[in-house]
Amino acid sequence: LASIFVDVSGVAPGTQLTVKWLGKPVFIRRRTEDEIAEANAVDISELPDADARNANVAAGSDASDSNRALTPPEGSEAGAEEWLVMMGVCTHLGCVPLGDAGDFGGWFCPCHGSHYDTAGRIRKGPAPENLPVPVAAFTDATTIKLG
Ligand code: FES
Repeated sequence: LASIFVDVSGVAPGTQLTVKWLGKPVFIRRRTEDEIAEANAVDISELPDADARNANVAAGSDASDSNRALTPPEGSEAGAEEWLVMMGVCTHLGCVPLGDAGDFGGWFCPCHGSHYDTAGRIRKGPAPENLPVPVAAFTDATTIKLG
């Protein structure tokens, strides 16, 4: 798999970057404390998909916010769950969800009305799974490697 390196130094809290990787959009969001708190307040047993769907954690891990978020760069002072990286491909039929939208403050897929929360987990609508987290890691304080 071809890897790419993404400079995230310009991404302010509460905003996101969309990059193209392997022909698909990838969302890189720097979340606010409120977004993280909202994601942590959810009871995992109430999620339509309770699986982390994260290529960076053990298979079968639950969809807690810490299992969805990217491991922060070494020495980072910000919250451990600040960064979220996901494929921007709706798990229903593959449309690109819109950010800062939907009933759960995360993403909304306009094609058939799927609502994802601030951790990219499906909460309402026809999509069966959480937005998948690809292999990703910080290589220095401001660079994320995809793949
Ligand atoms: Fe997103 Fe159908 S493709 S809801």
